[in-house]
Amino acid sequence: MEKSVGKKLNTSVFISGRGSNLKSLIKYSKIKKAKIKIKLIISDNSLARGLISAKQNKIKPLIVDYKNKKLTEKKILLALKKNNINLICLAGYMKILSSQFIKKFKHPILNIHPSLLPKYKGLDTHRRVLKSKDKFTGATVHLVNAKLDAGKTILQKKIIVFKKDTEKSLAKRVLKIEHKLYPAALEKFLKNY
Ligand code: GRF
Repeated sequence: MEKSVGKKLNTSVFISGRGSNLKSLIKYSKIKKAKIKIKLIISDNSLARGLISAKQNKIKPLIVDYKNKKLTEKKILLALKKNNINLICLAGYMKILSSQFIKKFKHPILNIHPSLLPKYKGLDTHRRVLKSKDKFTGATVHLVNAKLDAGKTILQKKIIVFKKDTEKSLAKRVLKIEHKLYPAALEKFLKNY
């Protein structure tokens, strides 16, 4: 992998919806010491609320449809190349990247997941935490590999599950910590990059 000490990494954030993590990443990218510059937002949903943040911050959007996954991934890879992107941050992207895509990109891909991985990969994490009566939950930023939510963990943050917690209250509290965790994980990961 290419090293670029001192330089900001051209970053693309992939979203599908609300985009609150995207917002926190944009905010982080604006601080002087941040090692990322967000150049491209990719969304598989033209109605994603996160696209509003892209517009407000004058970041280029690319909206893709998945009628043909292979072609779409080709299109995305081309856009990443054109924009010299050397880091991808998945932030609520609801599509699974193929192993060919991950191999071809040749740079790190990070993801944020609302559970203490390796627990609760996939969807409905908060429901499953409550069902199992877990005492803790949290969020994880990890590297993306070909297996779903299974790449190396970069940073994790734990919170207590209260007796009175519902899926909604848990989701709200976990999301709040996610917004600090993603920038902190980037700091850690890119420290000597
Ligand atoms: C977050 O909970 C993230 O961990 C998960 O999807 C959600 C995205 O939320 N992967 P937002 O679009 O960033 O608000």
